[in-house]
Amino acid sequence: MYWQHKAFAINILNRIPFGRRGYLLAQKLLGTTRVNPRRDLQRAAELIEMIREAGQTIEGSECYEIGTGWHPFTPLAFYLAGARRIVSVDVNPWLSLNSALQTIHSVDPHLEWFTQICQLDRARVFERYQRLVATPKADSLRELLGRFHCEYIYPGDARHTGLPDRSMDFVISSNVLEHIPPTILRDIAAEGCRILKPGGLFVHRFNPGDHYANDDPSIGTGNFLQFSELEWKSYGAGLAYHNRLRCSQFSELFAKVGLIPLIEKQRVDPTVLEALRNGTLQPHGDFADLSPEDLAADYMWYAGLQPHGTPQPLPTSPQDTDIPSAVDEPARSVSICG
Ligand SMILES: C[S@@+](CC[C@H](N)C(=O)[O-])C[C@H]1O[C@@H](n2cnc3c(N)ncnc32)[C@H](O)[C@@H]1O
Repeated sequence: MYWQHKAFAINILNRIPFGRRGYLLAQKLLGTTRVNPRRDLQRAAELIEMIREAGQTIEGSECYEIGTGWHPFTPLAFYLAGARRIVSVDVNPWLSLNSALQTIHSVDPHLEWFTQICQLDRARVFERYQRLVATPKADSLRELLGRFHCEYIYPGDARHTGLPDRSMDFVISSNVLEHIPPTILRDIAAEGCRILKPGGLFVHRFNPGDHYANDDPSIGTGNFLQFSELEWKSYGAGLAYHNRLRCSQFSELFAKVGLIPLIEKQRVDPTVLEALRNGTLQPHGDFADLSPEDLAADYMWYAGLQPHGTPQPLPTSPQDTDIPSAVDEPARSVSICG
């Protein structure tokens, strides 16, 4: 599918009543919401690996996840790795009893592999999983999620979690932060700092590349860099929102709220780098100050430490009063594509 056609269709859904439901239906028909345990467990394992690399353990931890999505693989993976509590929040109601059940059962053939890549205690992981699948059918989503220590909050606003200060060990997400407008993201990072225990970790993996490249092989992951902010608004708003922040800008934003970077890894798309170097991809002037490597990055892994001090107060800026609410106006501020 040509990316402009997809952008056009999403734009219509952004504007009509029940557009989110229409999108949900289209995703189902296209099969894009199909469960993908290997991919999603691998992603959760990358978060677990960063936590280990930072010298901490999931065992007995309390975690806050931003952006549950369709299938709760991250909470499930953290439960299997020993988390005591996982609070997971989303602004969209994608999760259902059925998709959670599917998630649990789809893990079965991959459990051995998951245990190995995460270097977990096999007996404990299998015991936790067996306990989960052996229990009778759950009557509600809440009950089912509770069995793997997950509390789902929808609609939730990660800027105002309602959780006590210094109550969480980890604030985590997978494939979410690129979909959040910078001003909201800054508030979410500040809130993350507030709820993290001193020494707790802000651990995220996300995709700063153009997501339309997933469906349209004629473009690369740097395609959206050609457009001004205004031009991009007609392609990447609402349900297709992407903030186009580069890795250095994410790092800067996290540093501003007082996080101390422990891990900052990026994956550079070599095709985009080459296109930038030979001039076939000409980024818009908005990106003029950024290095080609920064522009060509299509993945970032970040772990930041909540230092042993109080979170830094946020500087106020004129836009603060204009921040759209991710809960009230999901069609403007929230993306649902992967
Ligand atoms: C691409 S999906 C990823 C879902 C899941 N983490 C995964 O890896 O499959 C992005 C998710 O983030 C959610 N999201 C976007 N902005 C959010 C926000 N401000 N707070 C909470 N969730 C948000 C979307 O509704 C969507 O479910």
